[in-house]
Amino acid sequence: MSYLIGENLTGGYGGMDILNDLTISVDKGEIAVIVGPNGAGKSTAMKALLGMLDLREGQVLLDGKDITNLTPQARVGEGIAFVPQTHNVFTSMTVQENLEMGAFLRRDDIFETMEQIYELFPILKEKRKQAAGELSGGQRQQVAVGRAMMTRPSVLMLDEPTAGVSPIVMDELFDRIIEVKNTGVAVLMVEQNARQALDIADRGYVLVTGRNRFTDTGAALLADPEVRKSFLGG
Ligand SMILES: Nc1ncnc2c1ncn2[C@@H]1O[C@H](COP(=O)(O)OP(=O)(O)O)[C@@H](O)[C@H]1O
Ligand SMILES: [Mg+2]
Repeated sequence: MSYLIGENLTGGYGGMDILNDLTISVDKGEIAVIVGPNGAGKSTAMKALLGMLDLREGQVLLDGKDITNLTPQARVGEGIAFVPQTHNVFTSMTVQENLEMGAFLRRDDIFETMEQIYELFPILKEKRKQAAGELSGGQRQQVAVGRAMMTRPSVLMLDEPTAGVSPIVMDELFDRIIEVKNTGVAVLMVEQNARQALDIADRGYVLVTGRNRFTDTGAALLADPEVRKSFLGG
């Protein structure tokens, strides 16, 4: 059984259902990637796992425990961290202050975690006294991921972490995300750069209209002619 499971999720924002019997799961030490057309419900699926959506049906399990009725705050307390697609750093605060904000809920010493994050993202240590708003897009994304890592999460959810960055910066970010996974974190990521993301995915989900359209290993999805033709541009 996977560490985080969203099972048969159905629900939306009050009108028509956006998610339709959707099932998504990720295990510790794995990267799961959600791809699919714009408006397919990828971000909504993440909100559902985080508890920001009223589900009509389905359940969310964390380490075998039913967390369907927990608030988003409580889920963060249970080890789920989320990096939204936009507005994911405090631009007027320094890099270091951003990381400190990430540890807001912690009562113990955060020094060691901060050092680990600086080890993962050396450029952040260099720029720790600079306002996050002065950083490049790719560096800001590092701040956002670093901030999420300050809670020492067991699950890291990322909504389009490489949006708007160059291919080189994307590759670098993916390398860092693989390092995070290798520390035993369960990584669930929504990506527009489908091909590259599936390339590093242990499992992949192709979503269409809030439904599971294809589910397989990243490699199998990349090799599937139908997936390639319809979702990866041939
Ligand atoms: N806050 C919201 N209120 C109402 N409808 C929303 C909201 N957010 C997204 N939607 C709708 O839900 C559908 C799925 O959106 P979203 O999950 O953002 O798709 P994706 O991330 O795959 O591009 C879209 O039709 C979108 O218009
Ligand atoms: Mg989205």
